[in-house]
Amino acid sequence: MAGKIPQQFIDELLSRTDIIELIDRRVPLKKAGREYQACCPFHDEKTPSFTVSPTKQFYHCFGCGAHGTAIGFLMEYERLSFPEAIEELATQQGLEIPREITFEQGQDHRPLYTLLEQVAAFYHEQLHTHPDSRRIRDYLAGRGLGEQVIETFDIGFAPPGWDNVLARFGRNDPSRCQLAETGLTTTNEKGRTYDRLRDRIIFPIHDGRGRVIGFGGRLPGDGKPKYLNSPETPVFHKGRELYGLYQARQAHRQLEYILVVEGYMDVVALAQYEIHNTVATLGTATTTEHLNKLYRACNEVVFCFDGDRAGRAAAWKALETALPLMKDGRQARFLFLPEGEDPDTLVHKIGRRAFLDEIARALPLSEFLFARLETQTDMNSIDGRARMAELARSLLARLPTGTFRTMMEQALTERVGVPVTVPASETAPSASRPVRARRHKPAGMPPMRRAIALLLQHPEAARAELPEGWETLRTPGIEVLSELLERIHTCPDTHSAALVEATADERLRGILAQLTVAELAVQDDAPEQLVGILRRLLEKQRAKQREALLKSTCISTMSEEEKQRLRKLCRRS
Ligand code: UTP
Ligand code: MN
Repeated sequence: MAGKIPQQFIDELLSRTDIIELIDRRVPLKKAGREYQACCPFHDEKTPSFTVSPTKQFYHCFGCGAHGTAIGFLMEYERLSFPEAIEELATQQGLEIPREITFEQGQDHRPLYTLLEQVAAFYHEQLHTHPDSRRIRDYLAGRGLGEQVIETFDIGFAPPGWDNVLARFGRNDPSRCQLAETGLTTTNEKGRTYDRLRDRIIFPIHDGRGRVIGFGGRLPGDGKPKYLNSPETPVFHKGRELYGLYQARQAHRQLEYILVVEGYMDVVALAQYEIHNTVATLGTATTTEHLNKLYRACNEVVFCFDGDRAGRAAAWKALETALPLMKDGRQARFLFLPEGEDPDTLVHKIGRRAFLDEIARALPLSEFLFARLETQTDMNSIDGRARMAELARSLLARLPTGTFRTMMEQALTERVGVPVTVPASETAPSASRPVRARRHKPAGMPPMRRAIALLLQHPEAARAELPEGWETLRTPGIEVLSELLERIHTCPDTHSAALVEATADERLRGILAQLTVAELAVQDDAPEQLVGILRRLLEKQRAKQREALLKSTCISTMSEEEKQRLRKLCRRS
């Protein structure tokens, strides 16, 4: 069934994931007896009431009531949808989500992934078998790349010629269409179609799960354009993908930090020196989506830029993008290379050890920020310091509230000599501390919705003795409620995530996922609350029916059957 994630897979995922490790990476936890604690990331508090249980694999906040499994935590904290949270966990565990699931609604992209995979294999094979392959392998060796790195990154060779890929993979109309869709072929204004990548060294680009989604191709030598890349396609989005992230995650179970560089060659050259935690943007500036991906993988990002003017400008842009994402516990640092060097040339020159030392010396975000503002203002004059305060104020306002922001405000105060008030966080809720913005207020939620939410969050409520006749309710949503009840009865150990997941309808699943995290003021009274809601709904329905019956007929002309119905309706309410 489309969109359905097998329950078994969810179970497998949850059993492999350690919720302590997952949360600790985002919210540092302290051991307290058999459980772990922290200040709750979902509400403001000074003393920790957020508790994570390794045995239950569950988190719970005694302050605000937030609770859930690893899946729920990711949904809340990273603001992921249910399928996205599953994808994230699957990626971390290196598990393939079973094939019958397609999250991309509408179009099924599987044929494109298959095609891209096959073409990547073809390019890679050509690197070893093509008559020209000697020339290419010599070039790669000349750039210091060994066999191992070539294999790890699946580097390949697109041979010279207009239709190597087209002839091999485009034998019929549908396959030619797919080639065009993946950007592997291109059509000129005269209507002629040919391979996009010709006589180029190929760097396949992988997504987080290791699927090939596009290619970068470099000319083996001088010539222009030096690189040609896949265009934006249904499966490849430059603003979202990072070259090397898949390999970095494969190489490290836990990434301490990730180095962001500019080029394909930088990533592979550093890997040659056993520096595997490197990614490259794909000819674009670093986007918020890139950074969200990176901070999901680790807590520290080190940006690496040329030491020239353009490099500094690019670094500043990266800083501005990073500001709203600097939640407590996250770090960003900036490494400026000597002019004329890139990581590839530099690591060859100075070697692994010295390169790692350079990384260790990278400027923290705070220092880069103030240093840059100080070069723009005269800190010796009052006017200059006032201007500095003004510039910094609007930058610091983009930081999410938290210790880091407070420290930055203090640092600013020290620099300008007078306290500077920074306006309340201007950041969108998604960028700052997770706010339960999309949550339904308990009062505002229609009763049936609330009943469904109760069941989702507290499946044990299904054990309550429900008011007789609840099945006759015609309130919209009743089918969903009865299905949930049935599922809980057949599988009493089930939990929110499994219930949401077991819903085939994509749209409904979305709604249920939201209800799973909706705020419900429940204190061990979920069963009573559920019973209460159903009772009130029944009363309402009966009152309506009574009214309708009385309106439509006069008692004296009622049939015996109608009278009986009316008596029943009156008795029950
Ligand atoms: P660079 O010019 O710094 O190339 O471009 P590089 O990665 O250091 O490669 P070598 O060392 O010259 O072989 C950095 C990145 O910008 C994009 C590519 O993603 C490249 O890796 N780029 C560059 C293009 O897309 N097209 C180009 O023509 C040049
Ligand atoms: Mn280079």
